[in-house]
Amino acid sequence: MEKVALITGGCKGIGRAMALTFAKAGYNLVLLSRKDSSACQETVEEAKAFGKDVLFLEADVSREEEVKEAFQHMLEKYGHIDVLINNAGIVKDGLALRMSSEDFQDVLNINLLGSFYCAKEALRSMSRNRSGVILNISSVVGIYGNPGQSNYAASKAGMIGLTKTLAKEFGSRNIRVNAIAPGFIESDMTESLSDAVKEEAMKKLSIKRFGTAEEVAELALFLASEKAEYITGQVLSIDGGIAL
Ligand SMILES: NC(=O)c1ccc[n+]([C@@H]2O[C@H](COP(=O)([O-])OP(=O)(O)OC[C@H]3O[C@@H](n4cnc5c(N)ncnc54)[C@H](O)[C@@H]3O)[C@@H](O)[C@H]2O)c1
Repeated sequence: MEKVALITGGCKGIGRAMALTFAKAGYNLVLLSRKDSSACQETVEEAKAFGKDVLFLEADVSREEEVKEAFQHMLEKYGHIDVLINNAGIVKDGLALRMSSEDFQDVLNINLLGSFYCAKEALRSMSRNRSGVILNISSVVGIYGNPGQSNYAASKAGMIGLTKTLAKEFGSRNIRVNAIAPGFIESDMTESLSDAVKEEAMKKLSIKRFGTAEEVAELALFLASEKAEYITGQVLSIDGGIAL
């Protein structure tokens, strides 16, 4: 049976790199992204060039009904899911006292609740097959915190709690759940940082450069593979030694 990986927010940035890496490794893909993602067609075509099936599904991960519908389409086409990568995420930064509860909630709804909705749908199918891998793309910010990102840090810390709990609940069914915590990765998100913030970040890094989306994708591919079949409930940081 051909392997199937579903990547949320899989059209650009780290998600795109994971899509191409998994397609190259022989996975059929489902890219689930919200409406405004213009990069999707391009990524779908690039991934298809590896000779695998690629299904694009438009859905907002923070809307449970849309997630359910998308998983139904995915199961109609492939019949099963081997790997779910909860990668879709947003930031809405601001110091806590100036942050509206709406901005706090939006970030939690997409980053954390969206991951829960997708995991729940994937786990139904994985439980039936007694096999599966879930990877939650958290962040070093979820481990250490970061001024101006109380909403984002809370959502990413929440994803770590979700990871460990699902790993405990589903290990006996041969389902592994791990989190990846990237540090500064070259992307639209880090491109928009001011030079001062970038310089400050560079001072903290042991390896004096930002990481690449491809490096995160290779870690995800390893964690999804049989080589990692005794690794579950873990948070793997990929951060150039930012907190050493
Ligand atoms: N870039 C970094 O340095 C960095 C560091 C640590 C963690 N991360 C995490 O890695 C993940 C990917 O980051 P990126 O830099 O590639 O981001 P990005 O903004 O380039 O891509 C995010 C993707 O998620 C999609 N998305 C956003 N909201 C969605 C929703 N409601 N429903 C469905 N899709 C939605 C977007 O359309 C986009 O395709 C995020 O979860 C981010 O928090 C990134």
